[in-house]
Amino acid sequence: MTTDRTTRQTSSGAAPPQALTLDVNGQTHRIADPGNRTLLDVLRGTLGLTGPKYGCGMAQCGACTVLIDGAPARACVIRAVKAAGHRIVTIEGLADPQTGALHPVQQAFLDCQGAQCGYCLNGMVMTTVALLDRDPSPSRATIRDVLRHNLCRCGSHLEIMASVERAAMLRRPAEP
Ligand code: FES
Ligand code: FES
Repeated sequence: MTTDRTTRQTSSGAAPPQALTLDVNGQTHRIADPGNRTLLDVLRGTLGLTGPKYGCGMAQCGACTVLIDGAPARACVIRAVKAAGHRIVTIEGLADPQTGALHPVQQAFLDCQGAQCGYCLNGMVMTTVALLDRDPSPSRATIRDVLRHNLCRCGSHLEIMASVERAAMLRRPAEP
């Protein structure tokens, strides 16, 4: 028999917690009681995916960026329940699951030392992955424009620009 979760009441009269299913990095996760928690809180606090960082909590800095259906999204302001039915990718899901090889964007940031403290790195990498998926050879102006809402307090902007350009190069098929 199917239980109507929206109307069933506990003996105390309170509505029971609503479970939630999330598709994260190709795996299905059942979250028992998401309540009003943000997607970032569920990813970090429940699923242990601590790549996305808490910075401002106000969609201003980009540290918490994840991909939702391929587009960058600020997980600090999205309620977890709103992410149900969508494909979520965190930075933990970028590496090749078979070989463990880093995603070209991760490799490029490593090669170019695109971070100092690294706190912004998650957002820079995830935003770059989405950018290169839709524009494999972006101009410097485009890179600057796309990353202008990802804040780096360390001032690693030159290295970040170089990292994105190297990532675009690494993604291109090798010349025959
Ligand atoms: S923590 Fe989400 S944008 Fe700053
Ligand atoms: S490397 Fe420290 S905030 Fe960007």
